[in-house]
Amino acid sequence: MHRDRVTVIGLGYVGLSLAVCLASKGFKVTGYDVDKEKVDLINKCKAPIHEPRLKQLLKSSLRRGFRAYTNLRPSAFNFITVGTPRNKDGSTDLTYVSSAARELGESLKKEKGYSVVVVKSTVPPGTTLGTVKREVESTSGRKFGSELGLAMNPEFLREGSAISDTLNPDRIIIGELDSRSGNSLLGFYRKFYGSKMPRVMRTSIVNAELIKYASNAFLATKVSFINMIANLCQKIPGADVVAVARGMGMDRRIGEDFLRAGPGWGGSCLPKDTKALKGIFEKVGVECPVLDGAIRVNELQPAGVVEMAEEEIGDLRGKRVALLGLSFKPDTDDVRDAVSITIIKMLSERGADIVAYDPVAEENAMKAIQEYSIPAERISFASSAREALINAECCILITEWEEFRRLNKDDFSAMKRRVVIDTRRFFDKACIEGLKVVPLGLGRTGEE
Ligand code: UGA
Repeated sequence: MHRDRVTVIGLGYVGLSLAVCLASKGFKVTGYDVDKEKVDLINKCKAPIHEPRLKQLLKSSLRRGFRAYTNLRPSAFNFITVGTPRNKDGSTDLTYVSSAARELGESLKKEKGYSVVVVKSTVPPGTTLGTVKREVESTSGRKFGSELGLAMNPEFLREGSAISDTLNPDRIIIGELDSRSGNSLLGFYRKFYGSKMPRVMRTSIVNAELIKYASNAFLATKVSFINMIANLCQKIPGADVVAVARGMGMDRRIGEDFLRAGPGWGGSCLPKDTKALKGIFEKVGVECPVLDGAIRVNELQPAGVVEMAEEEIGDLRGKRVALLGLSFKPDTDDVRDAVSITIIKMLSERGADIVAYDPVAEENAMKAIQEYSIPAERISFASSAREALINAECCILITEWEEFRRLNKDDFSAMKRRVVIDTRRFFDKACIEGLKVVPLGLGRTGEE
């Protein structure tokens, strides 16, 4: 099979970003997804998700021959990038991984020549050498080793910067069945990255699977740690988590990233992967108190934000509260496990009238609100941040969208009470005259 041909199975954040980045660098990429609507959108050059630079790269990829299909066409490199959602008990749902492996195996039946199966989806240890290997071999009638290569190659891109992370990753982890599989994938990436080749680690498949979970759980723990310190700072007059984090981050062993205190971590990965890893610990009977603590801090964080609002304006019943930002982080329309939804639920239980605004996530937030059975009459959506502020007795900034930097004195003067709970340390305390900014992680001195 031609070495420049690639099949990407599952066109979500990871798959679509990978597909368009490869296509834009001249690889012949075929995409595959079971969702016909998504496939049609992609082929019509409509990005199914909000992601910076995606549309532009999709356009150039389609021009270079990239197409998405609902029937699978195998290539020399076949990346499995399907979702691994959470089951109700927190364990990982491998339905999509199994069916992708089966379909791929089926399509490889008639093929001749060596091709490599690369698992990029986040899967529990043992899945690649278990489910994936078994399904591909049984449906294709071919054997890994001599006829097919197998690798587990976790993905570390972040939503909101998926394209630039795909083009410039910190590292490539190759978990390989044998050296031929690993050499093939390494050669492929050398071609893709050229002179900008990132650091590579080659290891066993099970280690690669664990590296992904351990990385996400570590990042979640780091954020929970600084959130815990933020809660302490809030009780110590004059203490400021931003300064503490800056000082800590100057130590290279600690590092400055992922030390921004906030309302808690959300999204489709950190919450899901920490719980899945906890389940893996439980399955083998090993305790994971650090992980338990990280999850606990994150569960408590949204209530702390609501309490900050109550401390400022008292009982929330009947009070209009403006929420700025609903997506779990800026530059995405994703609200999966977003803190905003938990805060909306808490505010609505306390009888607040919520007016929310997000530049792109309104539609997804509406769906999530229905799923969580939050009464629709408790919340309305504004078409701008300025509109959301009108007559509000309190504003809670949840997501640090850049456009909120343009809010000025006039915008805030439309509020009934000019109070902002700043959960992201976004507003400079002194920047807007007449506005009371209540920053998360700042101990009050009594002078304010
Ligand atoms: C995360 C990882 O960072 C990626 O490396 C990984 O590939 C991805 O999951 C995945 O498994 O697919 P992502 O969920 O897109 O990426 O977003 P992050 O940038 O990690 O942010 C997660 C949450 O942590 C957000 O709610 C964010 O606001 C919060 N966060 C992050 C903080 O509150 N403080 C920080 O300092 C950093």
